[in-house]
Amino acid sequence: MNSRVDETPHLLRQRDQFVPRGLITAHPLVIDRAQGAELWDVEGKRYLDFVGGIGVLNIGHNHPKVVAAVQAQLQKVSHACFQVVAYQPYLDLAQRLCELIGGEHACKAAFFTSGAEAVENAVKIARAHTNRSAVIAFRGGFHGRTLLGTTLTGMSQPYKQNFGPFAPEVFHTPYPNAYRGVTSDLALQALDELLATQVAPDRVAAIILEPVQGDGGFLAAPAEFLQALRALADKHGIVLILDEIQTGFGRTGAWFGFQHAGIQPDLVTVAKSLAGGLPLSGVVGKAHIMDAPLPGGLGGTYGGNALACAAALAVRGLRRGTVAGAQPIARRTPAPWPAGLAGALPAHRRCARHRFYAGHRTDQG
Ligand SMILES: Cc1ncc(COP(=O)(O)O)c(C=O)c1O
Repeated sequence: MNSRVDETPHLLRQRDQFVPRGLITAHPLVIDRAQGAELWDVEGKRYLDFVGGIGVLNIGHNHPKVVAAVQAQLQKVSHACFQVVAYQPYLDLAQRLCELIGGEHACKAAFFTSGAEAVENAVKIARAHTNRSAVIAFRGGFHGRTLLGTTLTGMSQPYKQNFGPFAPEVFHTPYPNAYRGVTSDLALQALDELLATQVAPDRVAAIILEPVQGDGGFLAAPAEFLQALRALADKHGIVLILDEIQTGFGRTGAWFGFQHAGIQPDLVTVAKSLAGGLPLSGVVGKAHIMDAPLPGGLGGTYGGNALACAAALAVRGLRRGTVAGAQPIARRTPAPWPAGLAGALPAHRRCARHRFYAGHRTDQG
């Protein structure tokens, strides 16, 4: 008898005994290895991976160029802590992301480990820059599982349930949702009302949103909505933060979701597909805003780890083809559904709009 055949139930029992239930594992699988778009479980069964570690593996598992870059970096230095000494992969990655995101603006980048940490730091930077405390986020938004990330997240269950009290001075407002009849105009009216009744604009440090809500149901913010937020933020000196942790690096058919609207955010949070499977996140934004925190105010022991930065630099070179490949798909799928049409469209058509966003490339290109 092949003893490996019984391994999955045994390992899942081990999982239940030693890992808390709050941390779910969506599929009853224990995987052993992965390559490209495929996974193999401990019993040797092969699966097609449509999840990619939740938007992390745009270029697939264990891309040979990423593996080679990490191995080469490991021979040199794996961890040094950027607050102690600088190292080149961090510097090169900061420069490349600034070139990619900054447009014509002078830009700086700081690296962290998880997406939630990037969100936390973006809010810190915005508060330091404005000397204001309030933050506006959106219903249905997801921004991570730390206390501030959870506070900013606009979904109660399971993310917020039993975890309060939450961080103060965070306000939520509706996100456009053509499927539910929430047009950009309605969402902007609700935001105006929030500013008139609950928090004055001159107390607001930042507005944070995803250009396409991921966990919230793959809802794209219409271009005019992002443009109106840009104008509102400019008018009141509010920092506009685009959380591109899930949308970034080609997942919407452009490098970043905000580019569809032709706006320039003040700060952009990045993570997930940034480093092809290694834990790395960052805040990239206008230099004068990024420089607001005092020396020592930003950082983290593992933030911008050398192996992760080397992986990101290897991924960066591969993404050109990925983004180019996504563009025909993005062009074929119409930009946000007219409100009346949305209800009439079959569900699979609505899903199609983000089919690239939800999936990832299956080749090794
Ligand atoms: C838009 C967005 N922001 C923040 C996060 C949090 O990232 P992490 O899980 O790496 O902390 C996620 C994760 O799914 C996300 O999709």
